[in-house]
Amino acid sequence: MKLKKIFFAATLLFTGLSLAACSSAKTEQSPLDKIKEKGTLVVATSPDYAPFEFQTLVDGKNEVVGSDILLAQKLADELGVELEISTMNFDNVLNSVQNGKADLAIAGLSISPEREKVFDFSDPYYQDGNVLLVQKGDVAKYAKVADLDNADLAVQKGTTQETYARANLSNANIVSLTLMGEAVNQLKNGQVKAIILDSSVASGYMSQNPDLALAELTFEAEPENAKAIAMAKDSGELKKEINKIIGKIVENDDYKSYLEEAAKYTVVE
Ligand code: ARG
Repeated sequence: MKLKKIFFAATLLFTGLSLAACSSAKTEQSPLDKIKEKGTLVVATSPDYAPFEFQTLVDGKNEVVGSDILLAQKLADELGVELEISTMNFDNVLNSVQNGKADLAIAGLSISPEREKVFDFSDPYYQDGNVLLVQKGDVAKYAKVADLDNADLAVQKGTTQETYARANLSNANIVSLTLMGEAVNQLKNGQVKAIILDSSVASGYMSQNPDLALAELTFEAEPENAKAIAMAKDSGELKKEINKIIGKIVENDDYKSYLEEAAKYTVVE
């Protein structure tokens, strides 16, 4: 009787162990194999940043479009899988890759030393710089950093612009907002005096809003303004594959045509 029990316990233990081995083998599956097995590439983004990613109306329905979405589609096509765009606020985009809910983050993302500690980044696919967007009448009012002292300066929460402002413009009153559209509304109605954002995005807002312009104050171009795709640390083969595809995109200047395509759509917020 006693022996039987021991045998039973041993069998349980053994099954338990082999189950554990199985499940750990599963989690050790490479990120690339995981995507291929699912047959879907899940891309996290925050569609409030035209021309990179934004919402538009297609046949009366909201759809996420933009140059990053075209890039995401190209990656999915090349990997031979379906694309699934997962939308969320920008300050959740990187978390979603970190906790494995998304395979990639493509969101006008800039490479930064802090982010590189936590994520793998692809090679850059686009270069952009930070600019200061203000009301047209304030262009000359903000010409040097000290002009921002005590001014309400908006940045999007979780962005490299937020980090930059907190480190370099700490005399300003920094207002972190969840959505870029919210920041622009606050600028238009005078609740904030300026916004730091990526220059291509500022251009879009200026073409829609003739009352907005770039301040005389400019920021030095930093290497981290390069836009790239974020994925989990140690993505190995996946990173290699993505870089291969990006290499071709850069070589053929395809991203420029993605931007042109994105410019055809009207932004809805
Ligand atoms: N380039 C900045 C960053 O990486 C801002 C990106 C904001 N993207 C967006 N989809 N709202 O932090």
